[in-house]
Amino acid sequence: MFSAFFWLLWTALIARSLGQSAPEANVTFVRGQKWQIILLGVPDVSKSPLPPTDAPVWDIDLFDSDITTISTLKRQGKIVICYFSAGTYENWRDDANQIPASDQGKILLQWPDEKWIRTSSTAVRNVMANRIKLASQKGCDAIDPDNTDGYQNDNGLNLKASDAIDYMRWLHQTAASYGMKIGLKNSIDILNDVALIMDFAVNEQCAYMGECTGYNNFLALNKPVFHVEYPTPLSASNNTYCNATGTSGMSNILKDLTLDGRTVYCDGTTMDTPVKGGTNPPRPSRSTPGRPPPRPTTSLRPPPTSSPRPTSSPRTTTRFTPPPPSRTSQRPTSTPGNPGGGGGCRSKHWDQCGGNDWKGCTVCESPYTCKGVSPPYYYQCL
Ligand SMILES: *[C@@H]1O[C@H](CO)[C@@H](O)[C@H](O)[C@H]1NC(C)=O
Ligand SMILES: *[C@@H]1O[C@H](CO)[C@@H](O)[C@H](O)[C@H]1NC(C)=O
Ligand SMILES: *[C@@H]1O[C@H](CO)[C@@H](O)[C@H](O)[C@H]1NC(C)=O
Repeated sequence: MFSAFFWLLWTALIARSLGQSAPEANVTFVRGQKWQIILLGVPDVSKSPLPPTDAPVWDIDLFDSDITTISTLKRQGKIVICYFSAGTYENWRDDANQIPASDQGKILLQWPDEKWIRTSSTAVRNVMANRIKLASQKGCDAIDPDNTDGYQNDNGLNLKASDAIDYMRWLHQTAASYGMKIGLKNSIDILNDVALIMDFAVNEQCAYMGECTGYNNFLALNKPVFHVEYPTPLSASNNTYCNATGTSGMSNILKDLTLDGRTVYCDGTTMDTPVKGGTNPPRPSRSTPGRPPPRPTTSLRPPPTSSPRPTSSPRTTTRFTPPPPSRTSQRPTSTPGNPGGGGGCRSKHWDQCGGNDWKGCTVCESPYTCKGVSPPYYYQCL
């Protein structure tokens, strides 16, 4: 009995000292924090330390990121935000069949595999509650629920700004029940209504749209605005967005629309974070000829309205085998089109076709070509 007591005490002490040896991230959001966002593939933590080493905030895909990736980032002191779509039906998700047809609205202008959803529906909220629970189980510090701006679009469900405010309150409450933080994605119209319960904001293209000043009050609360613009071409010399009106104090970055590992920071540095696997092919946004002119938030937004995040296809299990951890060879694949391992087979649109340790087909079905989305790690039929 006595010894059992000491045994318990001893194991408790051991457990405690082990716990202390792993520093946890300081999950405090403050204005101006440097960030990185990667939704095409996941940060390859086997290549740590990952550039940019001085970015404390990382926004990554909820579904693609495994517990190891998230816990490794957190051990390195990073704050991990997990991204998912909270306002659209994505037909390839495992839980998609839990969203009844009666809760599905119009197809998104640019994304044929997605529809707006009725965010007040119990079925929809059950699905999202499960996704938030998953984020908690994976160890995410915060969530980045996307596509909550259906009210700014032709949604087919009569969604209004008041619906979005109610939904953000519910998402906040649900995340808070797991001790997770939450940010508002775009939706500047409702920012002032939910500013006090949002820990941060994520914005795409407010400089391009000329509406960054909509964040002035939010920034004054010392909350960060993680702001991304998509100049084409993406290069450190094309940085005029960095000085756009209203961007002062924001966490400004420039990226390719695919949201791969590359990021240009406004101090002129370019970082290429190694990524691996990822079941999400990028959406075909880049083929859209020209961008629409900036419009104020209050009017109907022209595309790209929702996030240009990558989507995945229903065939995730067969298409992508995340590359195994490189053991012997770190050598980049020279040419993804090299038919060496392919044996004459052809990859379909969106499929992987090359990259470190890739052993599948390296030639694409016509008319697609194998492109280095994140060379040398990942090539894809686009
Ligand atoms: C956490 O980070 C914030 C912002 O950088 C800082 O103000 C605060 O003192 C930190 N807290 C701890 C416990 O380190
Ligand atoms: C920079 O990006 C913008 C926006 O995509 C584009 O219109 C412009 O041509 C680019 N400028 C240069 C010098 O590449
Ligand atoms: C943008 O502002 C920075 C200082 O914040 C300055 O060094 C840089 O020259 C400016 N760039 C442009 C393109 O105006």
